[in-house]
Amino acid sequence: MDSLHDISEEIDGLRKEKNAVILAHNYQIPEIQDLADYTGDSLGLSQKASETDAEIIIFCGVHFMAETASIISPDKKVLIPDPEAGCSLAETINLEQLKKWKSEHPDALVVSYVNTSAAVKSETDYCVTSSNAVKVVESIPRDREILFLPDMFLGAFVSKATGRKIHVWPGECHVHAGIRPKDIRRIKESYPNAEMIVHPECGCTTSFLHSAAGDDELAKEIKFFSTGKMIDYTRNSDTPEFVVATETGILHTLRKQSPEKKFYPAKADAICEYMKMITVEKVLNSLREEVYEVRVPEDIARKAKKSIDRMLYISAQ
Ligand code: 13P
Ligand code: SF4
Repeated sequence: MDSLHDISEEIDGLRKEKNAVILAHNYQIPEIQDLADYTGDSLGLSQKASETDAEIIIFCGVHFMAETASIISPDKKVLIPDPEAGCSLAETINLEQLKKWKSEHPDALVVSYVNTSAAVKSETDYCVTSSNAVKVVESIPRDREILFLPDMFLGAFVSKATGRKIHVWPGECHVHAGIRPKDIRRIKESYPNAEMIVHPECGCTTSFLHSAAGDDELAKEIKFFSTGKMIDYTRNSDTPEFVVATETGILHTLRKQSPEKKFYPAKADAICEYMKMITVEKVLNSLREEVYEVRVPEDIARKAKKSIDRMLYISAQ
């Protein structure tokens, strides 16, 4: 078996020879984050996919992310090293379910989290990620009815942040939903001086938003961030320690960029097994054999792209 060093060298040679770029999500294993040309959150990865001059995009993340890259850059070859890398949240709603929900609210606009299939995006008005969901919803006239899908915790967060009543699909991510208020309260007892940063997909979100309105000091001090914003915030903050409530893959980037600070996972077993399916051996295979290509049928891609373009446009304002 080749060593990590040998595999990395071969990956480097092939990516130059084939004019490929390797994009990795913040939840990828450390070895993948270290060899990627760019590591980021869902929004950052979509922006990179739209800007790159590379002919091949090796997408180290889950399937809906690679699909999004392919929709944005249909002239590029988008490859995912393991086509089985799915997302439990994206699975909570399909095209038929969305069409039925829309028929019950014929005047509503559909706002979909990027964690959805291309087919669901094709029936969506505005795509969002956790870093821009509030901004996108604020751009919609207040008298418009909104269907928000599929994450109920992010939906509650957006509703609270914008002060709007929103219909929210009852979906959840099995990794984030498992991070409960008791986990956060317990870890706060161990690290009373740490700042609490929480991804709004977490199962504790709704409860803390509710109790922040009362006299719950812990709930009041929590900051809700996308993975990308967690990275920016901790880099610029003077606080020396943080409790991080999200998938634990992000701890690698956080520790790498701020080695003098301490980062504690809110739940050490908050691990997305889909994200961890991508390995360096699979990335090498992907580059060598140019597999597994992610392609979206043209009519679906054309419709889905409108919702993604709207999001990218609003984010850039
Ligand atoms: P971010 O957009 O914050 O990176 O989140 C993506 C995701 O899949 C969360 O589970
Ligand atoms: Fe999907 Fe959850 Fe994994 Fe993110 S952490 S990719 S939402 S299953």
